[in-house]
Amino acid sequence: MNTWELHPAFVHFPIALLLSGVVLDLYGWRKQREDLTRVAFGLMVAGVIMGLLTIITGILAYYTVPAHTEAAHERMTWHIWIQSIAIGLFGLMCLLRWKRRKDLPSPKALFLGVAAAVLLVIGSYLGAWTVYRGGAGVDPAILAPEVVEGHHHHGHGGHADDDHDGHHDDDDHDADHHH
Ligand code: HEM
Repeated sequence: MNTWELHPAFVHFPIALLLSGVVLDLYGWRKQREDLTRVAFGLMVAGVIMGLLTIITGILAYYTVPAHTEAAHERMTWHIWIQSIAIGLFGLMCLLRWKRRKDLPSPKALFLGVAAAVLLVIGSYLGAWTVYRGGAGVDPAILAPEVVEGHHHHGHGGHADDDHDGHHDDDDHDADHHH
């Protein structure tokens, strides 16, 4: 198994736990049911823990991932920032609520959760874009030459030189422009 392949194995957990947590939190608040709030809070705490582990695997992926397009590289940077901020907001919300975790959420806490969930979905879309449209994490040997010569973080894969020298052939072009 390659190091960058750990990240896709982890990503589902924070996404599923945190989005389920936010939906149940809203539902519990709407129905004024503290028993549901308690479950929602537990889901979100588990989601933050899995989110931190996912960030670690994401950092590992960033430093090992093979060649990908320049456009994917740009989105990867957005992905990293957005996901880190989303997990940070969820973490903050759980900390602020810790003492009252058995009570119904305040409107502020609900808003923070929904905002963080929206960021998480956008960030995950960008992460998936880098893979499905930018070739990040895909074995360069099976990709078109234009992609193989794309963006390298460390010269992994052996074929192309490092691309930090201003040579940006496929800047802002999607992988599917190269047939
Ligand atoms: C909880 C936080 C995060 C979530 C939920 C997340 C989610 C995702 C998703 C859904 C993908 C697409 C995977 C696929 O479909 O194969 C992805 C790819 C990627 N993410 Fe993240 N990500 C997170 C944090 C990070 C961070 C902090 C970094 C880097 C510092 C990072 C770096 C990458 C890279 C390099 C890829 C493409 C290669 C690969 O999948 O290994 N991610 N991420």
